[in-house]
Amino acid sequence: MADTEAHTCTKKASMFTDPAAALASTRHEFGEHGGVNMSIEASATFTVMEPETMKRMFAGELGPDRDFFIYSRHFNPTVLNLGRQMAALEGTEAAYCTSSGMSAISSVLLQLCGTGGHVVASTALYGGTHALLANFFPKACNITSTFVDIDDMEAVESAIVEGKTKVLYFESVANPTLKVANTPELSALGHRHGLTVVVDNTFSPMVLSPSRLGADVVVHSITKFISGAADIIAGAVCGSESLLNKMMDLHDGPLMLLGPTMNAKVAFEISERLPHLSLRMKEHCNRALVYATRLKNLGIKVIYPGLEDHPHHQLLKSIANKDYGFGGLLCIDMETEDRANKLMHYLQNCAQFGLMAVSLGYYETLMSCSGSSTSSEMDEEARRRAGISPGLIRFSVGFVGTLEQKWSQFEKALSKFHESELSNKS
Ligand SMILES: Cc1ncc(COP(=O)(O)O)c(C=O)c1O
Repeated sequence: MADTEAHTCTKKASMFTDPAAALASTRHEFGEHGGVNMSIEASATFTVMEPETMKRMFAGELGPDRDFFIYSRHFNPTVLNLGRQMAALEGTEAAYCTSSGMSAISSVLLQLCGTGGHVVASTALYGGTHALLANFFPKACNITSTFVDIDDMEAVESAIVEGKTKVLYFESVANPTLKVANTPELSALGHRHGLTVVVDNTFSPMVLSPSRLGADVVVHSITKFISGAADIIAGAVCGSESLLNKMMDLHDGPLMLLGPTMNAKVAFEISERLPHLSLRMKEHCNRALVYATRLKNLGIKVIYPGLEDHPHHQLLKSIANKDYGFGGLLCIDMETEDRANKLMHYLQNCAQFGLMAVSLGYYETLMSCSGSSTSSEMDEEARRRAGISPGLIRFSVGFVGTLEQKWSQFEKALSKFHESELSNKS
């Protein structure tokens, strides 16, 4: 194997405390001229002083751990630094940053499953991930999946095919239903059957640390909360050094050979945003809880794991990191798509409460009707099994303006909505 070892290590999971504290303990990289920010290594390729050095790099004798770089699809110093920060955030040995969340997910599953492998996956997944597992993988490489309700441990266990199932896959907080996975129990179950437990933590960075709860691999769509500005598509795979090294192998590693590479300029941008991720998450979560409570008091059907009536409230309380809250997303169920669309129209076009857009983690509130947007890849039956009703509106709660200013905008939109419902009836 022509690869290098031990290049992305920061903190071992056992030393993991609070994710913000772990992030702050990573080595601060200074710029080339003593700048407080690290320099951007904008080179695709790297030169050597002697031809022999190149040979030794390709033989895996010299690598990034000793500051030897070959080519930026392999390792780039700036992207590597972001990987160190992501590993610290998630409490894993290593992390590798990719060009999108989907490339992180597909690469790690290809590595772990191989042709003919089988995945036991949650019924409640982001529509794109569901489509990857249900449609693309069987056709492209004969990787099949069984979708199960992960609340039902017996169903999870009986879906495992000994010798064939390689991965147990779920989202720590599911898109869009906000079901919270019992990561400790699911991880223990997966490990009893020799599976690798892969958890998508896109919805809850800082709030949950799946690797501390037993998961082997944590994947992220950095595009969302971690970026926070809705201007970048990016992802990450956080896991053991040995897994990441295998995925980077020059001869058969999916990260190396499929090339879902992150640009160094993007890595720099993201690494500048990680230091305030904890502050942003606290405010996303704070406002989501306030709005969820007030909406519930108005008699609206609210789905938010911070509310005591949410079926996973106690579970989330018991596994969440302290003082971050219960997540920055909330859903309301308007029963029909028409009613959902009407309310979103008033919220955006009459009250300026938020923007009708998919994605999440932005500083403005984003809202979408999941059944006809980010979960439309799922057929009606799959959406029903996942618990996505046609009138479900998913809100990614932003933090611009004051809380009361934004709440009064919500109230204004709601009263317009009720007026129009009344005039339709009369
Ligand atoms: C939970 C989750 N995982 C993964 C993805 C895919 O990420 P990306 O769009 O960065 O490829 C998304 C996108 O919406 C998502 O919501």
